[in-house]
Amino acid sequence: MAAAAMSRMRSLAGVAPLVVAAAVLVVLCSGSTAAGPLEIGFYNKTCPAAEEIVRAETARIVRVSPDLAAAFLRLHYHDCFVQGCDASVLLDSTPNNTAEKDSKPNGSLRGFDFVARVKDKLEKACPGVVSCADILAIMARDAVMLARGPSWPVALGRRDSRTSSAGSCGDLPPLHGDIALMIQSFAAKGLDVKDLVVLSGAHTLGKAYCPAFADRLYATAGYSADPALDSRYADRLRMRCTSADDTSSTAATELDPGSCTTFDTSYYRHVARRRGLLRSDAFLLDHRFTRAYVLQAATGRYDGHFFHDFAVSMAKMGSIGVLTGDQGEIRKKCNVVN
Ligand SMILES: *[C@@H]1O[C@H](CO)[C@@H](O)[C@H](O)[C@H]1NC(C)=O
Ligand SMILES: *[C@@H]1O[C@H](CO)[C@@H](O)[C@H](O)[C@H]1NC(C)=O
Ligand SMILES: *[C@@H]1O[C@H](CO)[C@@H](O)[C@H](O)[C@H]1NC(C)=O
Repeated sequence: MAAAAMSRMRSLAGVAPLVVAAAVLVVLCSGSTAAGPLEIGFYNKTCPAAEEIVRAETARIVRVSPDLAAAFLRLHYHDCFVQGCDASVLLDSTPNNTAEKDSKPNGSLRGFDFVARVKDKLEKACPGVVSCADILAIMARDAVMLARGPSWPVALGRRDSRTSSAGSCGDLPPLHGDIALMIQSFAAKGLDVKDLVVLSGAHTLGKAYCPAFADRLYATAGYSADPALDSRYADRLRMRCTSADDTSSTAATELDPGSCTTFDTSYYRHVARRRGLLRSDAFLLDHRFTRAYVLQAATGRYDGHFFHDFAVSMAKMGSIGVLTGDQGEIRKKCNVVN
């Protein structure tokens, strides 16, 4: 299997640059005055220390609370999937508007105060220059690197939206779908099947609370206990979440047990053994391509490939629906419009 698998992985890697080029084209053509593509080194002249300031502050935060690396990745993902990577996820609700962060599928988004802390540092160094959307993109990259994962140059120049709507959260992949629905919701954002399985690898970091998976453990109206879940693992999980709608348990369960603060391929090993915690993790075994990717990564011999793929898919995700040029604004505070 090794040789065939290797050559398949190589040919996948060869396709990647084309995909990136296509993503950049989409951004270029998305039409609006003075909108340009994102650029590596966008703040070279206007705020040369920007990325170093974000890195240093993110490192300080993650050193104290390693769990927050996952939170920062998740914020960027939610931001990009809902109305584009425009920091709409950071806006507070107002008396006449419910913002994204207060919608049901917000899951357990957190880390907002820490993003604000990074923004304050940047405002001191270069007032009104670095967007909150770019801060989220840089923090997500740095979070991965700080968890001993790869690093990559991140294209910048995003601007911040002036709106955020709880209603748009329907764009997030559904919790109770199947692999076809997940592929569909990724495709709607210009992401392909490979991006789906690669970005799912972000679950190498972080934890989830009972409401995100407890329905897989018990037979309830409409759902049977999930046969896709390894039964011994399910037994163990039932001790943590005592009913299908357990909302009282405050214990969080690691998505990548034993390695939830290290960015690596052991997540795929758990998924391959039918121990993916969320339905969306288990679905990856239901499609020819995603299954093959999971099984290869699970061998532990393809970390380099996964790291490369992750950087490529993050760049694609990071360019979804961006505002550039004179669109949007550079917020002074990330939780309110100027
Ligand atoms: C910023 O500087 C880097 C390193 O010198 C360079 O690779 C990049 O192209 C520059 N970007 C811009 C937009 O000037
Ligand atoms: C919401 O309320 C604020 C003040 O409370 C007002 O300035 C703004 O125009 C209102 N927005 C909408 C969409 O009604
Ligand atoms: C998520 O939404 C719920 C309402 O459904 C809200 O009570 C909660 O505060 C929100 N979480 C965050 C982090 O904003």
